[in-house]
Amino acid sequence: MNIQENISLLPYNTFGIDKKAKYFIQATSENDVKSALLKNKKLNLPLIVLGGGSNILLTKDLDAMVLKIELKGIKVIEENEECILVEVGAGENWHKFVQHCVEKGWAGVENLSLIPGTVGASPMQNIGAYGVEIKEVFHQLTAIHRENLKEKIFDWKACRFGYRESVFKNELKDQFIITRVIFKLSKRPVFHTEYGAIKETLEEMGTKNLNIKDISNAVIKIRQSKLPDPNIIGNAGSFFKNPTLSISTYELLKRDYPTIPGFPNKEGIKVPAAWLIEQTGWKGKTFGKIGVHINQPLVLVNYGGGEGEDIKLLSQRIQESIKAKFGIELHPEVNFL
Ligand code: EPU
Repeated sequence: MNIQENISLLPYNTFGIDKKAKYFIQATSENDVKSALLKNKKLNLPLIVLGGGSNILLTKDLDAMVLKIELKGIKVIEENEECILVEVGAGENWHKFVQHCVEKGWAGVENLSLIPGTVGASPMQNIGAYGVEIKEVFHQLTAIHRENLKEKIFDWKACRFGYRESVFKNELKDQFIITRVIFKLSKRPVFHTEYGAIKETLEEMGTKNLNIKDISNAVIKIRQSKLPDPNIIGNAGSFFKNPTLSISTYELLKRDYPTIPGFPNKEGIKVPAAWLIEQTGWKGKTFGKIGVHINQPLVLVNYGGGEGEDIKLLSQRIQESIKAKFGIELHPEVNFL
């Protein structure tokens, strides 16, 4: 295990922000993780765990130890005619894992194609897109406790998944490092094509005998048309979560704004943050090297050389104007460091 000092984190965050880490370690095994934790105790510095760096905004140099999780491997651990349990190293690239499943005919994650980031980060915030969340295919995970270095298994219930939420962002925040995740995938696919433009895209593609590869290709096509590629324009996907309003608040707003979209869920009515940001005039706005994306205003972007502090300030200005116009609080999905 190699410790590097004063390393630029530019290659390790999809926002493309150039800030440094005092210490930087890449862990390829459980033992590496444990050694890094012991070293961290000696150094007595904050520990920041990094997956694909696709959900963080660096606002300063980090006087900390940054631990990049690189545990690899995709292993089938159980299989029958209906389903398959597959264990995946936390450091595997999420989309590469999805492609592997699609090629093998293992259904369940095809709607989650092209989401940036790593497998280990996926349960953290219960990633979701196009009508599917990972909680629907999650079986269990293994994580190492940061203090006692013991490995612990978390089943579905213990993860307490919610919309972009899990126990690891709440009660157990900063207590565990996820090392391996087991997914339960199906050999008998149930297609989810009802969300957004999936159906139309499949028609445009001239799809006949629908299979999971077609769905994956349709999702890739939609994402590429709407969302900026972080390899070209720095971004961290959706910057804010979509707020859920009570039915009465939503109805009051609908009187003043009859076109406000709303999607009922268990807690109330989910309103697209993208719509709120567009209505307050931010869509497509550029401020020097940063801005609000032209096709999907929920995505804040760094055109190159932008600063995390400026993106944070922009996000606060957006929050304030939405609060002033609609009385709605937007909460960031991205983690500020
Ligand atoms: N909309 C606008 N203006 C726009 C774009 C969208 O008003 O310019 C409104 C429309 O009403 C549209 C609605 O926003 O129907 C929803 O838009 P979209 O389908 O693009 O999805 P989203 O709610 O903005 C969520 C996820 C995305 C995920 C998409 C697709 C969150 C915070 N974001 O975005 O996830 O890819 O659905 O399922 O839930 C991410 O988390 O990084 C991410 C990209």
